Amino acid sequence: MKARKIKDNIYWMGFVDWDSRLFDSLIPLPDGTSYNAFLIEGSEKTVLIDAVESSLFSEIEAQLHNVSKLDYVISLHAEQDHSGCIPQILSMYPNAKVLTTPKAKGILMDLLHIPEGSFVTVQDGETLSLGDKTLEFIFTPWVHWPETMVAYLKEDKILFSCDFFGSHIATSDLFVTDEGRVYEAAKRYYAEIMMPFRNVIKKNLEKIAGYDIDLIAPSHGQIYPRPSFIIDAHKDWCDGPLKNKVVIPYVTMHQSTKKMVDFFVSSLVEKGVSVEQFNLTNTDIGKLAIALVDAATIVIGTPTVLAGPHPNAAYAAFLANVLRPRTKFLSIIGSYGWGGKTVETLAGMIPNLKVEVIEPVLFKGSPSDDAFKALENLAGTIATKHKGLGLL
Ligand code: FEO
Repeated sequence: MKARKIKDNIYWMGFVDWDSRLFDSLIPLPDGTSYNAFLIEGSEKTVLIDAVESSLFSEIEAQLHNVSKLDYVISLHAEQDHSGCIPQILSMYPNAKVLTTPKAKGILMDLLHIPEGSFVTVQDGETLSLGDKTLEFIFTPWVHWPETMVAYLKEDKILFSCDFFGSHIATSDLFVTDEGRVYEAAKRYYAEIMMPFRNVIKKNLEKIAGYDIDLIAPSHGQIYPRPSFIIDAHKDWCDGPLKNKVVIPYVTMHQSTKKMVDFFVSSLVEKGVSVEQFNLTNTDIGKLAIALVDAATIVIGTPTVLAGPHPNAAYAAFLANVLRPRTKFLSIIGSYGWGGKTVETLAGMIPNLKVEVIEPVLFKGSPSDDAFKALENLAGTIATKHKGLGLL
C-alpha cells in the first residue's frame, strides 16, 4: 500500500496485514493486524516514527522511495515488530540517527546489533524541533515493555503511542469509523499484553491527561479521531468497577465435568450472576483474556488426568496467573476417577492472583445429587460474595 496522508506533511506508512492469524506465535489475530509507521516532514528535519518488522522492509522501502532525507528514526518501543527494519533504514539513510529512550537503546543494540554511535537518547519530557513542528517525548513505561515512550506532536496535537492504545485490526480505513469493533479489538489487545501492568498504565494515563490531543496514532490498528473514547476505555479496564460475572474456563473428557459446568452455570444464572463459559478445547484465548479484564470470579472446570488437572485447564490457570486480572474470587469444579491432586496443583499455579479461593467442588465419577447440591451451594456463595461487593 502507498503512504497515506494524515495531515499536511504527516503520513501513514507501514503494512496492513490481512492474512496473519497468530501474533508472536501466541496471540490469535481474528481480524489480522497492521504495522504502522509515521513520517513527519518538518521544515528543517524529517523523522520516521517506528519502523515495522524486518520482513516488511520492501513495503516501507517503497513508501520511502521519494523521501530524500531522513534525520531520525524514532523508536518508541524496541520490540521487533516496530524496530526490525531500523538497520535497513539506516542503510538507506546513513546520516540518520535512532532517537529513543536510554533503556530502549540498550535493548535495540542487543536485539538488532545497531552500533552505539547511531543513537541519540532523550529524557522524559525532552523535545525535538523539526523546524515548524515540535515533538515531545513522554516516557510511558510498561506499555508493555519497560522502555516504552510516546511522542506528542505539539502543533498538530497528535499523540503517537506505539503499542499503547493499539488494536489488532486489518482495515483499509485509516481512522476509526466503528468504535464498537475497535473497542472489542483494543480490549483484547489490552488484556493480552497490558493488563499485568495496569497500575503503571494508570499512571501513564494520568501523565497524558494534561495534553490537548486531537488524534491518537498507535502503531497497530487505526488512528483515533476521538481520543477520549479509547482513553476512557483504558481507564475503565485498568480501574473501573468489576462486573457481576463468573468466567468458567473448562474442559471435559467423558462429560462428567461438563454436566457439572452446565448445572453450575444454570444455578449462577438463576441467582442473577452472569457467566462467560469457555470450552478450552476450542477457545480463542484472546476472548478468554477479554473476559478476565473485569470478571469478579473465575471458576476452573477440569477432570483429573494423570493425578492432576487436564493440561488445558493448567494452561488456563497459567494464563490467568501471568495476566493478573483484578478477579476477587476463584474456585475449581470437576470430576475425578480415583484420586489425584488437581486442586493442589491448580492452586499452586496462581500465586500472582490476589484472590479468595472458595472451597472447590470435586466429585468422584459422574455427578450425583450431592455434587449438584455442592454446586448449588457454590453458586450461592459466589452470588453472596458479589452482593457483598455491590455488584449484584
Ligand atoms: Fe507491537 Fe510490543 O510490539
